[in-house]
Amino acid sequence: MSPLSDRTRLIASATRRGQGRRPVNPPVERASTMLSDRAETMRDDAEGPTYGLDGGSAARALRAALADLEGAAEAFIVPSGLAAVTVPLLALTRPGDEVITTDALYGPSRRFLARYQAARGVATRFLPADTDAESLIAAVGDRTRLVLMESPASLTFEMIDVAAVTQACRARGVLTLLDNTWGAGLGFKPLAHGVDVSIQALTKYASGHSDVLMGGIATNAPACRRAIADTIEDLGWHVSPDDAWLTLRGLRTLPLRYAEQARSGLIVSEWLQTRPEVARVLYPPLPGSVGHDLWKRDFTGAASLMGVVLKDGTEAAGQAFLDALSLFGMGYSWGGFESLITHETHQMAYRDHPQALEGELIRLHVGLEDPVDLIADLEKGFAAFNAALTLP
Ligand SMILES: Cc1ncc(COP(=O)(O)O)c(C=O)c1O
Repeated sequence: MSPLSDRTRLIASATRRGQGRRPVNPPVERASTMLSDRAETMRDDAEGPTYGLDGGSAARALRAALADLEGAAEAFIVPSGLAAVTVPLLALTRPGDEVITTDALYGPSRRFLARYQAARGVATRFLPADTDAESLIAAVGDRTRLVLMESPASLTFEMIDVAAVTQACRARGVLTLLDNTWGAGLGFKPLAHGVDVSIQALTKYASGHSDVLMGGIATNAPACRRAIADTIEDLGWHVSPDDAWLTLRGLRTLPLRYAEQARSGLIVSEWLQTRPEVARVLYPPLPGSVGHDLWKRDFTGAASLMGVVLKDGTEAAGQAFLDALSLFGMGYSWGGFESLITHETHQMAYRDHPQALEGELIRLHVGLEDPVDLIADLEKGFAAFNAALTLP
């Protein structure tokens, strides 16, 4: 294990000495076809990639930096965060297997399990969103092949004791996967907590500028490495050199953006908690919030994505809140430099186990703007929300 911090290693991987005169950043090689000089070496990987699908310099540098960040023997990149979830699920399950996860799984991951995997003969049990480690472990049965976790989970931000789950699963030969997009490979290190496959949407904090879609998959387990590599090859997934280059560029400044956004996230969440219209702020770094104790125990940093449950309200009042803002963009992503907001109450209907929320559910992503300005923007949202509720 290197004595250098993540922040230093992410930069030092670009500036390593002893490699001759070169640009700081790898070249972008747009290539489907690679040429060889001799027929004898055409199939020889030692001379570099034999075909564009193998990935060029930027992809290889990104994969190495990601593996280093995750503490993994190998990291893979795929064309979206969703693909980073679906590839290991396909690679590591067979018809007749069962997957265990919770209701608070990222919606499209849920859809893949409920639709595609079910048609393949792989069943999924969606446990209640607030299932703790003990209940999750108790649900593992003879057919359970893997457990897929998100902690904090999507939209309602429940946390789970990951180490307790991975320890129990390993003892029973069950694989564990964690969608660690919120932890971004920084705030939480899944492999160090016993997770077999660490997944993140690099689309979010890693690339960080809302201009790339990409997923990262990291693992140490030799059987998982082989199966994931084969599945990526079989499916023909490829990441463009331009996107790999942009994501690598984002990765260099990830620790600074992540830490700054966490600072602002906490300021905004503390302010939200004081608002009379707010029933609960769902943000594990916030003392008193859901999952705070586990976050404090296991995390060394935080993302700036949170849920806000309003007291009562109507769909129209929730929409009025969003419409009144000017700094928070209305858009379905997070982890970029800009603040974003979405209205999520309707998503609760897709869960197997109904969750009674006090009122409208809003998701906020706090960007790199000044939090004072963001709070002033949110004040306008609350004024519009209150006005919509008092309309005749
Ligand atoms: C938790 C989580 N995982 C995965 C993804 C998928 O990432 P992408 O949009 O790159 O497919 C998202 C996207 O919002 C997400 O929130």
